[in-house]
Amino acid sequence: MKDIVKKARTYRRFKQEPISMETLERLVELARFAPSGANSQPLRYVLCNDEITRDNLFPCISWAGALKDWDGPEEGERPMAYIMLVSERPATINTGIAAQTIVLGAMSQGIGACMLGALKREVAQNVVGLDEKYGIELLIGLGYPGEEVVVDDARAGDRLLYFRDDKDVHHVPKLVLEDMIIKKI
Ligand SMILES: Cc1cc2nc3c(=O)[nH]c(=O)nc-3n(C[C@H](O)[C@H](O)[C@H](O)COP(=O)(O)O)c2cc1C
Repeated sequence: MKDIVKKARTYRRFKQEPISMETLERLVELARFAPSGANSQPLRYVLCNDEITRDNLFPCISWAGALKDWDGPEEGERPMAYIMLVSERPATINTGIAAQTIVLGAMSQGIGACMLGALKREVAQNVVGLDEKYGIELLIGLGYPGEEVVVDDARAGDRLLYFRDDKDVHHVPKLVLEDMIIKKI
């Protein structure tokens, strides 16, 4: 479990190997079993691996706000599939639980993911022809990782922004355990 959780970093550059619709369905099959408040199951899913739709979704996305001199993945390294989480009403925490379930399931098969919340939602809604009764909760970009991502230990008060080093390795600082647990009773 720890191995998968640690490896399930955010990936933003991908190999251009196809991701099948069956693979996407299997990931939603995992989210199907995720808990939700009052078992309300508010989320619905749009699955996309079609090249034209991927190309049209791409401009709706804001990539890696902390990497100021990087505009997102180039052609040839963009996500090969997307899962869009939608809901008729704000799904809040339920969205997070479902999204992480999908991300962990993807990584258990070696597939990397990026949760994408900073979206041009109205444009994305049109791109996938989403009924207006739904709002887009989150988009997840998927593909086999085409970049190296590592976790660094950080201390409370450190700068926690992710960065790329001169070897193009993406670093994600994570607080050490003793700085996360604030009380043991
Ligand atoms: C709710 C949520 C929304 C996010 N939205 C974006 C986004 O719009 N664009 C992006 O490049 N990354 C996005 N991310 C990825 C975060 O930047 C990433 O999780 C963070 O840098 C920590 O890296 P890690 O996922 O490898 O732990 C989002 C992550 C979460 C959980």
